[in-house]
Amino acid sequence: MRYITTPIYYVNDVPHIGHAYTSVAADTLARFYRLLGEETFLLTGTDEHGQKVETSAKAEGIEPIALADRVVKRFQGVWERLEIAPDDFIRTTEPRHAKAVQHLFRELEAKGDIYLGSYEDWYCTPCESYWTELQLDDDGHCPDCHREVTKLAEESYFFRMSAYQERLLDHIRSHPDFIEPEVRRNEILRFVEGGLRDLSISRTTFSWGVPVPDNPQHVVYVWFDALINYLTGAGYPDDAARFARQWPARVHVIGKDILRFHAVYWPCFLLAAGLPLPEQIFSHGWWTIDGAKMSKSVGNVVDPNAIIDAYGADPFRYFLLREATFGLDADFSEAALVRRINADLANDLGNLASRVLTMVRRYEEGRWPEADAAAPPLADEAAAAIGQWREAMARLAFHEALKSVWRLIGRLNQYVVESEPWALAKEEAARPRLRGVLRNLLEGLRLVALMVSPVMPVKGRELLTQLGSPEPATPAWGGPPAGTPLGEAAPLFPRIEVERAAGSKGAKAQEEKKKKVEETSNSRETVPKSTADGRINIDDFARVALRVGVVREAEAIPGSDKLLALTVDVGEEAPRTIVAGIGQSYGAEAVVGRRVAVVANLKPAKLFGVRSEGMVLATGDGPDHLTLIAVPDGPPPGSRIR
Ligand code: MSP
Repeated sequence: MRYITTPIYYVNDVPHIGHAYTSVAADTLARFYRLLGEETFLLTGTDEHGQKVETSAKAEGIEPIALADRVVKRFQGVWERLEIAPDDFIRTTEPRHAKAVQHLFRELEAKGDIYLGSYEDWYCTPCESYWTELQLDDDGHCPDCHREVTKLAEESYFFRMSAYQERLLDHIRSHPDFIEPEVRRNEILRFVEGGLRDLSISRTTFSWGVPVPDNPQHVVYVWFDALINYLTGAGYPDDAARFARQWPARVHVIGKDILRFHAVYWPCFLLAAGLPLPEQIFSHGWWTIDGAKMSKSVGNVVDPNAIIDAYGADPFRYFLLREATFGLDADFSEAALVRRINADLANDLGNLASRVLTMVRRYEEGRWPEADAAAPPLADEAAAAIGQWREAMARLAFHEALKSVWRLIGRLNQYVVESEPWALAKEEAARPRLRGVLRNLLEGLRLVALMVSPVMPVKGRELLTQLGSPEPATPAWGGPPAGTPLGEAAPLFPRIEVERAAGSKGAKAQEEKKKKVEETSNSRETVPKSTADGRINIDDFARVALRVGVVREAEAIPGSDKLLALTVDVGEEAPRTIVAGIGQSYGAEAVVGRRVAVVANLKPAKLFGVRSEGMVLATGDGPDHLTLIAVPDGPPPGSRIR
């Protein structure tokens, strides 16, 4: 069985498009497998324990469960509107889950992998994470969210994670697809190679959680509790028959912020329990707004409800999966969403469908015609597109899969122009050929409808119904028998008027924020003038922030033969992504660890869907003869070059 999971969402968070992204991706993958006729199970749910929920409930003077019962509907409601169709929705406050957590706890304790000890470390309440002194950022704050941390000392149960370091490394090394994408796999390998400490997995400072068996002063640490939802959702521990069919999961789809929990802690728990590891952990990138991660604490979240109200669920799902390379960050803007709707959906697909359906009504009385040998064939091209789509979908490369479908749409549009059905319709002798052409077009559209349906389930179904062939099926050239009537016609993707583009609340807030930033920066900035002969003066040069950078990670950008996405440390809080056109001169591995010269104040630009924040300097004639400008050892990342 293809068992696919999303993370369980913090119940008292307000759903935003970052959350929606993980769910849309997992739901799309599940629909893809269902379309291929495979048995599939999609799990999502809510993470309801922990200090934050306890504190919010106290502030309202209600029980934590009453708070959770009320706010869980925010997630369930938006998932329904977004056409997310899970087979199960798990809440960690359900008795079946407490049972699973306690069962696993007992098993590990009996094996000696859980022991009682005492714990002292820095705790970040918003992230519910402990950090060692060394892990804190330069200001002594949480290295993830940069907020204050508090020192906690308490009696705690520990999980013997250190005992699983080597087995985990072996597993990651011998299963290259276990952690995707590769850049994340390397990050985790480096982390685990650095040594694993035993993990504190119980708390005594609050009580809203699953009680530790036989010692209820302790509640189980939220991440130990939360991760086990994937087992509960598969029937653990009572439904052994279902568990045997469902576990291990095909994939846990997650965002990169929660990778360590999934790719280090979770496999260690499973190894200790003697359970198989999930086949894959796929970590996608972040949706950012003007480069900053979208999150409640930054205050830049976009409400998916507003986007659905303005544009509908399916176009939004399409945008999320087409605009970003799955695995990398992408910047959200409503203008980009509107561009995609108008160009890809209304123009390319919507117009094609309405043209073809109109011609079949006009020339063939609205029925599927016979195939004809004289009509130029399309089956091979369609089969190639299906092959690419299947392969890319199975790799969770949704953007690539959609590109293959759009190549087929492009081909169908070209086929209409080349075969001129309107001219064929004028000659009686050309009627069989006209029928063949129209059948090819209908069949091409049917395949397109099937292939887009995991991403756009409602629109896919609508198009299939309009084509008179509503049954979902594994895409393969064929089609209904001649004489099958078309369904009712209706426009699929109305064009969006540009004034409406700034219509949703999220976009308005964004526009206003942008305006403010521009206003303040304009008033401060005085632009130095260049001299008349084209030479620049020292002030002009001083405007370029040249900095020492160190490449921490690198990966080729799919679809481009030149571009590498580099993660470059320029001495800031977090490394930046810089896209460099050096891919024909350097392999990704060859640049990791290099010291580079970076233009750090270049206006961000998007290349192949990846937002680039700066530029690295190189020299050489031609893209395959580039040499990165050498930066001597010594000056730390961020040092000025002048
Ligand atoms: N409760 C934990 C997960 C426990 S799973 C055993 C949690 N919840 S969350 O609600 O904060 O995040 C859920 C998902 O939303 C994660 O995959 C996270 O990466 C994703 N996103 C949250 N903000 C995001 C963006 N701005 N962009 C893309 N996805 C992000 O973590």
